[in-house]
Amino acid sequence: MQLIYDFYEKSHFPQQSYLCIMTKGIGQGVLVSGFSKKTKAEKIDWISKQFHNPAQALELLQNYNHADSDLQNLHDEFTENALTNFYMPLGVAPNFNINGTILTIPMAIEESSVVAAASNAAKFWSTKGGFKATVISTEKVGHVHFMYCGDSQKLHSFFEQYRSALLASTDKITHNMRSRGGGITVLSLVDKSDAMSNYYQLDVRFETQDAMGANFINSCLEQLASKLKELAAKHPDFSEEEKSIEVVMSILSNYVPNCMVEAAVSCPVNELFPTAEESKLFAEKFVQAVRIAQVEPYRAVTHNKGIMNGIDAVVMASGNDLRAVAAGIHAHAAASGKYRSLSKAQIKDGVFKFSLKVPLALGTVGGLTKLHPLVRWCNELMGTPNAQELMQIVAAAGLAQNFAAVKSLVTTGIQQGHMKMHLLNILNQQQATEKEKEAAITYFKDNIVSHHSVAELLAKLRRA
Ligand code: MEV
Repeated sequence: MQLIYDFYEKSHFPQQSYLCIMTKGIGQGVLVSGFSKKTKAEKIDWISKQFHNPAQALELLQNYNHADSDLQNLHDEFTENALTNFYMPLGVAPNFNINGTILTIPMAIEESSVVAAASNAAKFWSTKGGFKATVISTEKVGHVHFMYCGDSQKLHSFFEQYRSALLASTDKITHNMRSRGGGITVLSLVDKSDAMSNYYQLDVRFETQDAMGANFINSCLEQLASKLKELAAKHPDFSEEEKSIEVVMSILSNYVPNCMVEAAVSCPVNELFPTAEESKLFAEKFVQAVRIAQVEPYRAVTHNKGIMNGIDAVVMASGNDLRAVAAGIHAHAAASGKYRSLSKAQIKDGVFKFSLKVPLALGTVGGLTKLHPLVRWCNELMGTPNAQELMQIVAAAGLAQNFAAVKSLVTTGIQQGHMKMHLLNILNQQQATEKEKEAAITYFKDNIVSHHSVAELLAKLRRA
């Protein structure tokens, strides 16, 4: 607390903002030391006391906790300072026909309309040939980023001379992966000194089979970095300065443009809607909408957000790393120098074609995949896919979601379906009883949902 007072007293903040910061909210303005060393009960006790109503804060944490169970212990060990669980709904989208296999896909997501949209799109395409998904490549990548002050040609000769020794230094780490058919596939030296003085990389390519491979890759990179330094330090052709290579960091890249999957749907235009006229109009408008997302970044970001609704939900349910996937996909969307749509649509010879290409580094072994009981359940529901099959499923979910969103946008508008699905959230916000919810669901079958119209209906029901 004193530290914070000192900081604000010594800073040039006007008195008003000082007061505002100090009274801003619960848990602010309080320093704690040794928090991670406290027991879970002590942490909960300390944190609850930061609330205006400690008993209520404590009760909420406890309600979400599976007290004294193996399951809770398992969850608590996933992260530091775990206090309880943070629930997320797990829904399923049935009727996905992916390469001829019918699947029910698990989706962990809180946005009310996403699972419904995916399910509708899956059903729509299930009888029109389904989703065709293809894994194009599976290469992962990582770098040792280092500084070398000296003759670039000498560094290249050094690297060629010791490439095998560098690789051999990782043998113990790569042993199991090699026995599964993976490992390091390419090791090269890249001169980046044009972009930043003295900057070079060891650029390392990997195949990690069914693992996402982050730990494997990072372990290999750290080993390569230490061997690089060791070999350089005693290389007879190097000057003293050249011998002291400075490794800045060794880390995988979440940009994986060579770990790519494509999902596509297509059908004759006149099969899209009941009449040929409606179908033609829809297909043309749909293609225009996707083209807009290719040329207009404002639209592209939202268009791709719709794709990520599907991708994230399945990535989450399958126990994979959402942040890694999202970072890689958005980098790919901007790879041309302009942020663009990840999907493409066209009409050719009377056939409507819609496809999505995304980089996806996923795993079906390691990480949470076998540890988290619900993740295991989700993977079993999907037929225990291997990493490539999971890439196909996730891409199909992304394309389905994108199809559903753009279809709504160019036909009814997004709010009709969205607000219908959001109705329960609004009713819950307004503390509707089960009876009121039933009445509201019936009423809003034919009426437009808005916060105001729900409030009006509830007031009317309550007056009655
Ligand atoms: C909402 O979560 C996603 C959409 O905005 C996507 C889109 O606009 O294409 C509906």
